[in-house]
Amino acid sequence: MMPHLTRREFLKLFGVGAGALAITGLTGCGVAPFFPGTAQPVRANRNFVPDVELELTATETQTNILPGQPTRVWKYDGAALKGDSANLQAIPNSYLGPIIRAKRGQKLRVHLKNALGEPTIIHWHGLRVPPEMDGHPRYAIQPGQAYVYDFEIRNRAGTYWFHPHPHQRTGFQAYAGLAGLFLISDGEETEAHLPSGEFDVPLVIQDRAFNAANQLVYVTNPMDQTMGFLGDRILVNGRPDFALNVATRAYRFRVLNGSNARIYKLAWEDGAPLTVIATDGGLLEKPAQKSYVTLGPGERVELWADFSNRRVGSELKLQSLAFSGAESGMMGGGMMGHGMMGETTNAALPHGAEFTILRVKVDRESKDSPTLPERLSAIQRYRLDDAINRQSPRAFGIAMPRMLTWTINGRGFEMEGVASDEIVKLNTLEAWEFVNQTNSMDQMAHPMHIHGVQFQVVERQIAPQFQSVWETVRAGYVDAGWKDTVLLWPSERVKLLMRFEDFPGLYLYHCHNLEHEDQGLMRNYSIQA
Ligand code: C2O
Ligand code: CU
Ligand code: CU
Repeated sequence: MMPHLTRREFLKLFGVGAGALAITGLTGCGVAPFFPGTAQPVRANRNFVPDVELELTATETQTNILPGQPTRVWKYDGAALKGDSANLQAIPNSYLGPIIRAKRGQKLRVHLKNALGEPTIIHWHGLRVPPEMDGHPRYAIQPGQAYVYDFEIRNRAGTYWFHPHPHQRTGFQAYAGLAGLFLISDGEETEAHLPSGEFDVPLVIQDRAFNAANQLVYVTNPMDQTMGFLGDRILVNGRPDFALNVATRAYRFRVLNGSNARIYKLAWEDGAPLTVIATDGGLLEKPAQKSYVTLGPGERVELWADFSNRRVGSELKLQSLAFSGAESGMMGGGMMGHGMMGETTNAALPHGAEFTILRVKVDRESKDSPTLPERLSAIQRYRLDDAINRQSPRAFGIAMPRMLTWTINGRGFEMEGVASDEIVKLNTLEAWEFVNQTNSMDQMAHPMHIHGVQFQVVERQIAPQFQSVWETVRAGYVDAGWKDTVLLWPSERVKLLMRFEDFPGLYLYHCHNLEHEDQGLMRNYSIQA
């Protein structure tokens, strides 16, 4: 077995510098080569009549984030071509893309225009769309090109999102600012009478690092990529030191962890429990009380945040509490969850440190607070007994067999490659198991994401030596609802149930630590009719 190395020893051994580079222009980043897509851009389908038609242009712009100089960012500029103004909601003063709002059953057409200097493509995270509408990296379009997405909204009401997915550039492009929320509503949600309008608040949490000239700084060496990018400034909806003014009533908070690699352990500073009403794939059956919520990159949670018993003038912080074990072992110099940070951008705010995410300021009285519904939605429970592979769930081992090389069942990403154990049948219910095969080189958490489906979490296990670090986050997993991304602590094994009921074709599954994804911790699976 390899002895545990400190980060410094590792850096020496592999001759990688600890520097980081600012985003200096369209191509001034030098992370890795990118591979243009292999498929032709899709043209509009004449038989598809959209209810809503939008245009999103991926472009470079500047915005004021910190006092002083503006920051160069990449942004989705939105325009509504058909539908009503409610379909696109810009977030003022933010690099984030506009919020797309649509109803279940509506037909949507989106024209993506690439005004960047490199290939890109949009993925609709969590949505059940045909494979050619899913933003697979093989569909990446060149600068100046366009891609037309046509799909019907099949998902339940919920908080979904969209972001780039070009091979080896997802982390960089999302970090530069390309991301937006996609909110779906339906009749069941309307019945729940949740806070709406200004009381329905999107909260996209992201960490960023800035240089002295207020420019974004991203990781540039493979070692930092392996660790995942961690910024020392917490932004909410693209703003630092985020504060929200509220009335003495209940709110719906839609929280997206839109960070590349950082995991949050959400909690109110005064210890009041969080009331969770939804997960990745929409409303829970009933509200769940949690002393804290553990949210990995890509995951969403909706909170019922009731300030009706608060005093006008009072303030409350939403924090991320301390936890351990997200990165340990070699990277941590052998110390569980501590002491891993060397001299890079990751140093300033370690993974698992405690910090404030946002402040809520109660600034006015309100008399008409809604009450928390006892029942939120109906969820059809899958049963392991009904899975076609109940005897031997499909297992996917996540490992780092060699330095800086991630594999799933021994394989790295191949653009169109599918192995025999990655083929499933349309209209079957399957059990999948992700296994975080921690070893002496790699003891990291992985938020595993599957395209094309929403799944249910049925079981979790962890090796005894990781039990104690697991206990620092485990109670914050929200496994009761529909999920498309699931967090695995080092050595953790998670069993999922999913039904492939939509479209045959090639879909991705991968780690949503975007640096891991870009390093190849991603594979295709194929749904066959
Ligand atoms: Cu949100 Cu394949 O990703
Ligand atoms: Cu996705
Ligand atoms: Cu990972």
